[in-house]
Amino acid sequence: MDKLIQKAAEDLIKAKHAVALTGAGISTESGIPDFRGPDGIWTKNPDAERKAYETYGIFRRDPKRYWSEHLTTSFWRKMDKIEPNRGHLALVELEEIGVLKAVLTQNIDNLHKKAGSKRVLEYHGSVGKLRCPSCLSRYERNDDELMKLKEEQKLPPRCDDCGQPLKSDVVDFQEPIPDDVASESFQEAVQCDAMIICGTSATVHPFATLPSTARKKAGVVIIEVNSDPTPLTQSGVSDYLIQGKTGEILPRIVEEVKKIESEKRK
Ligand code: APR
Repeated sequence: MDKLIQKAAEDLIKAKHAVALTGAGISTESGIPDFRGPDGIWTKNPDAERKAYETYGIFRRDPKRYWSEHLTTSFWRKMDKIEPNRGHLALVELEEIGVLKAVLTQNIDNLHKKAGSKRVLEYHGSVGKLRCPSCLSRYERNDDELMKLKEEQKLPPRCDDCGQPLKSDVVDFQEPIPDDVASESFQEAVQCDAMIICGTSATVHPFATLPSTARKKAGVVIIEVNSDPTPLTQSGVSDYLIQGKTGEILPRIVEEVKKIESEKRK
């Protein structure tokens, strides 16, 4: 493990444009269960996953019903009480040192931004925002205002710019990834010469194709940090897997980067 941590630090320092890709695994040490791990939300409740596939269709057919159902689920409201962990903070440090240029995350929990990461591309949206699927305008989410609309029978909330119904910014199954974040993320994958993939099962597309997009570029290094091997490991899309918890491994990579950087300054 130590050798791989040393190698990851060297690979990241050598890179001109390193990016991090993250999934639910980086947030489990903050107390948010992942989806497909042993204690995952879908693992424990396959019906919940099946139901999640219906959400976008309900919004399209009946935005009022979507909002009535959406406002009853309190899960997302608990998010603001959850704190980033050492894995998130390690990525902030790599960005501050100048090693990491962007974080591309599937997570909707806002923990990367809460930790202090500046360039975060929220590929599956954010629980703290609303989005207009028609014109992509985004708004901070205000539950008091939403509950007031519900009481006044004025749901769905509507876009100030185009008047269309708003939905949660969270990208539902079957919903297209918003064009803006999809193209920015694709550009990062094309441009990067190092990619560190933290805590994702790499099974949900199109996000899971970003590593293969990066792989097409000669000389790119793709590092995985995960409790378990993933399809990226097995298929050889990633160069190596550092197996273990992101909250333990990422801070050790940061320490190694700092050590190498300070040696260089001597
Ligand atoms: N450290 C490292 N890896 C971890 C940790 C941890 N502390 N905890 C869990 N993992 C790993 C698991 O082994 C698994 O490979 O993180 C991965 C989590 O995978 P998923 O639960 O599938 O989460 P994710 O890949 O983010 O799912 C992608 O699926 O349901 C949709 O929209 C949802 O964004 C989500 C998408």
